[in-house]
Amino acid sequence: MTALPSPEILLNAMQAIVGANGCLTADADTEPYVTDYRKIYHGKSPVVVMPSSTEQVSQVMAWCYEHGVPVVPQGGNTSLMGGAVPDDSGTAVVINLGKMNRVMAIDPVNDTMTVQAGVTLSAARAAAEDSKRLFPLRIGSEGSCQIGGNLSTNAGGTAVLRYGNMRDLVLGIEVVLPDGRIFSSLRGLRKDNTGYDLKHLFVGAEGTLGIITGAVLKLMPQPRASAVAFVAVESPEAAVKLLGEARQVSGQAVTAFELISAPALELVLEYLGNAPSPLADRHDWMVLIELTSGADEDSLNATLMEILEAGLGNGWVVDAAVASSLSDAQTFWRIREEISDAQTRTGGSIKCDISVPVSRIAGFIGKASAEVLALEPATRMVIYGHMGDGNVHFNPLRPKDRSAKDFLAQWYKPVSDLVDGLAHAENGSISAEHGIGVAKRDDLNRYKSPVELQLMWQVKRALDPKNLMNPGRVLPQLEDK
Ligand code: MLT
Ligand code: ZN
Repeated sequence: MTALPSPEILLNAMQAIVGANGCLTADADTEPYVTDYRKIYHGKSPVVVMPSSTEQVSQVMAWCYEHGVPVVPQGGNTSLMGGAVPDDSGTAVVINLGKMNRVMAIDPVNDTMTVQAGVTLSAARAAAEDSKRLFPLRIGSEGSCQIGGNLSTNAGGTAVLRYGNMRDLVLGIEVVLPDGRIFSSLRGLRKDNTGYDLKHLFVGAEGTLGIITGAVLKLMPQPRASAVAFVAVESPEAAVKLLGEARQVSGQAVTAFELISAPALELVLEYLGNAPSPLADRHDWMVLIELTSGADEDSLNATLMEILEAGLGNGWVVDAAVASSLSDAQTFWRIREEISDAQTRTGGSIKCDISVPVSRIAGFIGKASAEVLALEPATRMVIYGHMGDGNVHFNPLRPKDRSAKDFLAQWYKPVSDLVDGLAHAENGSISAEHGIGVAKRDDLNRYKSPVELQLMWQVKRALDPKNLMNPGRVLPQLEDK
């Protein structure tokens, strides 16, 4: 193995490409780029490089490839799985895309938007809105997460039910390969059957195959009307039935269908300064429903009422608060979107992000909850998320009288193994939308078949033969099976 270049040689090379202003080396400056969003993973890097063009990324990558220097691609650093920060060996260069933040073109006839990878999701959404279009990806971290990271993790969020996840929203990408070559499919084509669709290799690869530098995204018509309700349901089973009814009655209008357990609501209301609940009484289970359409408000509200009345008639719905203004709708959504940060604030929970077929989600929740509560009965079952996709964030939280440190030390591994195992047994996934990063990497040995793992490594070796791209992330060491 050839020795890595000295820090001085590395820094000089990086500065020659991106300029002195594009390189951070002091610990105080690099800290936000080597520590993850939840402050669980702390790594080291000799230099954080901030290129301002694809050409610069290409030169950085070519130099690192030639000299055997590992590279960690980074967008807004909001990965929940430790996928965007380096390990603590101090060898990997972090390439942060934050300076590549231009919306390059909007084509309202083709309904596409071409962006650099460092555009934040909220800036992409705002640019679409300025052109009277919608870019529909919606996640809580939209102010900081970036399009390149959204693509690299195949981000989902609260509007997947209607619009799909990032894989469904991208028409083309530009990627710099580990050796510096540039692959581009930024053509905005909806049809192109000319062989392998290479862009999909990089979507969801968490920067292990190359670094995404640009994308062509799909735009949608802006909905003219939206109707939102915060609904108490009798049980998760009842919620699934209500979802079926909502789809039957409103067709494509169901945009979000988010489950919220009582402990999740209680936690977030406390975090929001003892904010009032949208509902008068305590209920074990709630759903936030949003319908959107190109029709007028009145007819959409009538559709929502029809759904809720059917739910009441069938005993699925126990109570409901219907948003009567934009501000009501925003309040309901704020409650839902702050659940994640509320957990971090209270010391963190056991974060499981599972999906199962929608037909099995209620059974899974019942079984997994009972098994976790049998281990530690006062655990707060913070369960929430994208029930319409069969995806819930199943996040057991410490009992109020236990410290987060003790609870997590005792239960993180056994409980996440238990929950993931139950999801797997229901044909589910152990990571529905948060990715693998380093947090779930070794678990893949248990949940992916030997053939899947071999194929993943074959692809990895073909594209990144020196194993320099985000090393130690996503792909587990192969075990003999
Ligand atoms: C969410 O749905 O709020 C996000 O996936 C983040 C999280 O669950 O922590
Ligand atoms: Zn989510």
